[in-house]
Amino acid sequence: MMKVGFIGWRGMVGSVLMERMRAESDFNAISPVFFSTSSVGGESPYVGKDVGVLQDAYECKLLASLDCIVTTQGSDYTKEVLPKLRSAGWNGYWLDASSGLRMDDDAIIVLDPINRQLIEQGLSSGIKNYVGGNCTVSLMLLGLDGLFKADLIEWISSMTYQAASGAGANNIRELLKQSGALYAAAKDLLDDKNASILDIDYRVTQELHSANFPQQYFGAPLAGSVIPWIDAGLENGQTKEEWKGGVEANKILGYTPDTVKVDGTCVRVGVLRSHSQALTIKLKRSDLSLAEIEQIIAKANPWVKFVANNKADTLRELTPASVSGTLDIAVGRLKSLKFGPEYISLFTVGDQLLWGAAEPLRRMLNILVEKHA
Ligand code: HSE
Repeated sequence: MMKVGFIGWRGMVGSVLMERMRAESDFNAISPVFFSTSSVGGESPYVGKDVGVLQDAYECKLLASLDCIVTTQGSDYTKEVLPKLRSAGWNGYWLDASSGLRMDDDAIIVLDPINRQLIEQGLSSGIKNYVGGNCTVSLMLLGLDGLFKADLIEWISSMTYQAASGAGANNIRELLKQSGALYAAAKDLLDDKNASILDIDYRVTQELHSANFPQQYFGAPLAGSVIPWIDAGLENGQTKEEWKGGVEANKILGYTPDTVKVDGTCVRVGVLRSHSQALTIKLKRSDLSLAEIEQIIAKANPWVKFVANNKADTLRELTPASVSGTLDIAVGRLKSLKFGPEYISLFTVGDQLLWGAAEPLRRMLNILVEKHA
């Protein structure tokens, strides 16, 4: 059995990964060891068998005895530990949810329904580092899988609506605290049917502007507002999140940079879980009907759930609330645009903690386990 170490399993992506692995009985096929950066000797998570206590995540000798290490701990951990292991001659598989290694030549960004062939080539050529992609990129590629397979896309403009959970556990708490503060500010007026709506609006706006409004993690109100900035800024005016959209998508698809141009604006919205994107796409062909495009998108993989472009279906099936906690990649609002017959737009939403983070890593681990058997 493969000996597999897990680091960062208690964090948000790590917890979702544990949940999925338990649900799919993945732990039956491996011999897991759990590590901690802070509670060495503590209790390992329940995986249905005895796995001993938590080990030290910086103990290179023990790490180097493993066949595979799965980390959802973050880039700082990767930067500190992986070079030490490699320079000590460790030749095991490193599976990583963080972004640090993604663009390295000796790392493959894993999204096996899209790039299984690249993964297989990587495995045969001895590549040992396999990294999960940026969540919005992975969700976009799964939603547009059919259009990519048919080589129909010239460029994509993506406008994202990213959930608070993409920024971390503290940010989820802060969004809820912000929502509570806004409600509390207006509660007595909300309870009074005769209260003026402008008075309610005034109270809420005052609260949004108050120095005491909780915004330690976001740096701005998110409840009752949006934040059109995610991650660091780059010199060209993009944010890093926007830059990732283009570079990672092309790398996952095995294309040279900018083969398919992807650019847009990434926006944090007051959603708890699941990232949405409105995509404007220039197709390479202008002769396809919407019905044909729908078929191409809908049939691409088992997770795409095509939603008809009407209000009832959209409200029921094309929202973060409806897809959260599922592996569905909902795609809808498909329409032609007035700019010309080759332009379409659509809206897509998927759970960024599942297909956007945990699931590609879980599946990559299973690919390794199959090979090892
Ligand atoms: N970079 C992403 C975000 C994380 O900030 O939403 C993926 O969930």
